[in-house]
Amino acid sequence: MAKDSFDKHIDKLQKEIIKKEIEVYNEYIVDLSQNPRNWGKLPDKKISVSQSYTGPCGDTMQFFLKIKDNIIEKANFISDGCKACIATASQTMLLIEGKPIDYTEKLSPEDIDKALKGLPVDHKHCTELAVRTLKRAIHKYKKNED
Ligand code: FES
Repeated sequence: MAKDSFDKHIDKLQKEIIKKEIEVYNEYIVDLSQNPRNWGKLPDKKISVSQSYTGPCGDTMQFFLKIKDNIIEKANFISDGCKACIATASQTMLLIEGKPIDYTEKLSPEDIDKALKGLPVDHKHCTELAVRTLKRAIHKYKKNED
């Protein structure tokens, strides 16, 4: 197969894969999982608290938060999870960045699911993992501040 037609073939395959993923998830989730916002560990001196948590599914989310005057100034994450897990963690960071700690404590799995325009039923639990990781992070931060 000539390089040109090979490239076209790969391009076509990629488009078909993305189309199928959009049917399962939605366009927003697929984009967020492929280009996760707020991905990566923050530099050590910028981290007020970091928290890693592994859910029953075996996926781990790790959150890095920079907090000042009760405001989440910066929120980043890493995860070894699936597409839904990555998109969920990324959405959680987008929701909490710039918000007061109170807001993060009230954030529910349903709020994250709504912001993601609806995860498939068999992936709703990804939002539970995000909320648990977040609550543990805030708890740890408050404990350290005492
Ligand atoms: Fe593990 Fe969603 S599949 S967090």
